[in-house]
Amino acid sequence: MFIIRPETPADRAAVRTIQAEAFATPAEADLVAALRSAGLASISLVATVNAQAVGHVLLSPVSLHGVCTADGGLGLAPLAVLPGRQGLGIGSWLVVAAIAAARRLGARYLVVLGEPAFYARFGFEAATRYGLDNEYGAGDAFQVLALRPGALPPEGGLIRYAPPFAELADTGPDA
Ligand SMILES: CC(C)(COP(=O)(O)OP(=O)(O)OC[C@H]1O[C@@H](n2cnc3c(N)ncnc32)[C@H](O)[C@@H]1OP(=O)(O)O)[C@@H](O)C(=O)NCCC(=O)NCCS
Repeated sequence: MFIIRPETPADRAAVRTIQAEAFATPAEADLVAALRSAGLASISLVATVNAQAVGHVLLSPVSLHGVCTADGGLGLAPLAVLPGRQGLGIGSWLVVAAIAAARRLGARYLVVLGEPAFYARFGFEAATRYGLDNEYGAGDAFQVLALRPGALPPEGGLIRYAPPFAELADTGPDA
């Protein structure tokens, strides 16, 4: 049994541990800290088991044609669940909760860079289908989800993640 709720300052150490243990390097944990201190953590949710955070997801604003607005697009990254708690549905429910929170915030669309086999189940589709490109040459791994009808920019274009992502290794923001 787990609960999903917004991150609080008391969760920060646990979030760092989750991101560092789920990924091969501390890059994602550092990214979360950088986004938070830059005021770019639009949505940050934790999943808790017995009041202990075991999963975390963050969403930050992306820009299109250099324009970044609160009601534009959000990038879902990073998403992580403690290795010992994976495969129990926690990651999936974090994505579902993140989508709902983004809708409540008024965001138009979400982008993610990750495994299509995982994200397709939530409605994400290859962004290239809608003329949306990314900075990482990620192909079909770069996916988009419109949060309301007609929400995707009809002209397409290059989507850029928030500046702290530039510090991340060459591979890009694997969610
Ligand atoms: C990805 C991650 C957040 C999923 O969390 P989780 O709690 O294990 O996920 P769930 O239990 O909700 O869902 C597991 C399902 O996702 C699938 N899945 C998990 N990671 C996957 C991946 N990288 N590629 C494809 N499918 C994946 C599992 O096969 C499983 O499928 P099933 O439901 O058909 O059995 C977690 O595995 C994790 O933290 N991984 C390390 C960090 C990472 O690689 N993040 C990038 C995600 S693309």
